[in-house]
Amino acid sequence: MTTAITSIAELNVTLRRARVTIPVTSFEQKFLDLPDKSVAEPFRRLLIIKPLSRNDPGVIEFCNKQRERQQTQQTSFYVERYQRTIAAISQDQGGIFEGNRVRRFFDLGYSPGGFSSWLLNRNPSARGVGIDKNASEGSMLENEAGRYTIRTEDIITLVLQSVENGEDPIIPLAANDGDGSANHYDLVIAGAFPVGEGHIEWWIRLQLVLSQLLLVLINTTQGGASIILVNTKPFCWMAEEIGILRHSFEQLTAKKGDTHKKSSSCYLICTGFRASMEDVQKYGAWIKKMLVRLQARSREEGAGRVFDAELTMPTISGRTFDEIFDSEHQKVLELFTEPWNIQYKALKGMFENIISKNAASPTSAKSFWGSASAPAGRNRGAGADSDSWL
Ligand SMILES: C[S@@+](CC[C@H](N)C(=O)[O-])C[C@H]1O[C@@H](n2cnc3c(N)ncnc32)[C@H](O)[C@@H]1O
Repeated sequence: MTTAITSIAELNVTLRRARVTIPVTSFEQKFLDLPDKSVAEPFRRLLIIKPLSRNDPGVIEFCNKQRERQQTQQTSFYVERYQRTIAAISQDQGGIFEGNRVRRFFDLGYSPGGFSSWLLNRNPSARGVGIDKNASEGSMLENEAGRYTIRTEDIITLVLQSVENGEDPIIPLAANDGDGSANHYDLVIAGAFPVGEGHIEWWIRLQLVLSQLLLVLINTTQGGASIILVNTKPFCWMAEEIGILRHSFEQLTAKKGDTHKKSSSCYLICTGFRASMEDVQKYGAWIKKMLVRLQARSREEGAGRVFDAELTMPTISGRTFDEIFDSEHQKVLELFTEPWNIQYKALKGMFENIISKNAASPTSAKSFWGSASAPAGRNRGAGADSDSWL
């Protein structure tokens, strides 16, 4: 199967001429409507290439095949990839996550264990705790008895239970860690993300984002850091999360890891935790209220698409869309422009590669993969961005 677009020249013309045709949320539209069109251009051109690649038969086939190959990869392949990602993050930040600068860390969605194993290795005095709903079988972390605690739990359930009990979700380093006080990790990683689970409803994704945000705020020590996986689609809630983070940390930097160049996500590296107890209480109350609302919403018949939801659900902070946009859009642009550019280039590069390979062998192979038929498996037209919210 070949691409609908048959040459790189045609691809370039299509990209230049095309208009945004995929539905955007009201909040995203505000970026497109900014008077200075150049500032939102990286976002706009991403909205154009996404549906082009998602619906292109050649790209769908390429992505399905890539996914199949990924499913057969050994765990060690992913562990090494995540180890490289955190090594690059630490290097960018002047080595702050190595050389015993990390003493206590908490890793949300730790499995298969790339980040955690790297931290233990590079910080011989460090101790850590990891939570994941899927236990990492045969992980090297199991041999780290005494330095690392593994908890197999669902983060959303854990947080909702603490909210129901009227408690803050304070996570001890180990079962026998008597302290039990809040804010005692110098690094909290919030990297839990649904992987290979197919379609996940928007409210579950949002509950996971908010549960992790609450755990970050409650468990990070003053001056500490957090590495947070965020969606780069500028939903109103994402802008609110960024607003909370920029008040709670001295510095925020975006970093796109090798693992998600083509997807709508990146890591936010947040350093210098500075939120006061009152701030944490205030943001915590907003987040808890939203989590309870989302739980109620999930029980409603046909809880709706994320587009409608953004309009029918109250915002986290209770501010209006306009107020949130006015106060946060500069920071969103500052953080996400580079990840949008990287994603655009990765999608375009993939497109160009497939076109070139097909052009090089048009008769002997009907497709990039040398097969006339699309590989079996999920073919939801999700193309290069199967794990995004939309
Ligand atoms: C991309 S992987 C994280 C990789 C990890 N940072 C590493 O270095 O190896 C995301 C993890 O989040 C976990 N996860 C997703 N939803 C979760 C939830 N609700 N509760 C706990 N873990 C969850 C998945 O099981 C998966 O192992």
